[in-house]
Amino acid sequence: MKSLKGRSFLTLKDFTPEEIGYFLDLAAKLKEKKKKGIYDYDIPRKNIALIFEKTSTRTRCSFEVAAHDCGMQVTYLDPSGSQIGKKESIADTAKVLGRMYDGIEYRGFEQAKVEALAKYSGVPVWNGLTNEYHPTQVLADMLTIREKFGSLGGRKLTYMGDARYNMGNSLMIAASKLGMHFTACTAKEYFPNEELVRECTAYAEESGGSVTLTEDVKAGTAGADVIYTDVWVSMGEPAEVWEERIRALLPYQVTREVMENAGPQAIFMHCLPSFHDLETAIGREIHEKYGLAAMEVTDEVFLSPASVVFDEAENRMHTIKAVMVATLGGEG
Ligand code: CP
Ligand code: NVA
Repeated sequence: MKSLKGRSFLTLKDFTPEEIGYFLDLAAKLKEKKKKGIYDYDIPRKNIALIFEKTSTRTRCSFEVAAHDCGMQVTYLDPSGSQIGKKESIADTAKVLGRMYDGIEYRGFEQAKVEALAKYSGVPVWNGLTNEYHPTQVLADMLTIREKFGSLGGRKLTYMGDARYNMGNSLMIAASKLGMHFTACTAKEYFPNEELVRECTAYAEESGGSVTLTEDVKAGTAGADVIYTDVWVSMGEPAEVWEERIRALLPYQVTREVMENAGPQAIFMHCLPSFHDLETAIGREIHEKYGLAAMEVTDEVFLSPASVVFDEAENRMHTIKAVMVATLGGEG
């Protein structure tokens, strides 16, 4: 396996199944060590920058806690706290930060921006979410599935909802590389783009997995080991799209019937945050306007024993730590 030291983590397309497996094994090892209070993977005197052009709870906290566990220092640049894009180009920003920091996390809009940061900074850059991909999330998801089922190859993962965006894309890439059976079960206009489907079908041919697109909820969820969904409107999208999303995606809401159709082995997954009740401002607004008490998943499923959403959230930290340790050369 090629060394991971010095490499950026921009999309799982850039990594072989063996390398993804290495990240997962390292994350499991670091998780075990943390539970035992062992911190022998110090990367002393390293500084990392966290750039967030969109908001975050899990990703920011995971990078910060993981960095502190490794003995690193962190600078957080919030959506309004830097010159990026407004007064300074990505290339210039990258060249400046690359002279001060050992690694840079970026969350924002176009994938091209995180690619440019990596190109011009000369240090490892980690994608903390773009419109196109969310690779650190999917690494945590794969670790969670492996913990629940003991293995990934041959498992069936069905994604319901907006499958053309960061989560649908990244899950399809990871699943197809790791020998899983990926199904996008959604309205046709929310199928992932054809070129990415072609690429992932080729990965699946190599790995023994498969990629299926279907509008049929019964067929698409039958026998699934994992039912996965995400918000119907992602960060940065205009509020006007809610109406269209609700119309198109409500038939793909994760309900008790969906979970029962999948079978007793099925787990429910969501990257979070989620609109499953009326405890959020947007949840209440949508309820007032459209009468929905939940959106992509019912509260019943979200709170059910099949739901592993908080395991996923915890695993964000362990997997992000593994990515930083591997690419900064702390281990491996
Ligand atoms: N899942 C995830 O990326 O959460 P945050 O938006 O809170 O970082
Ligand atoms: N698709 C969501 C994922 C949030 C973690 C978004 O981009 O807002």
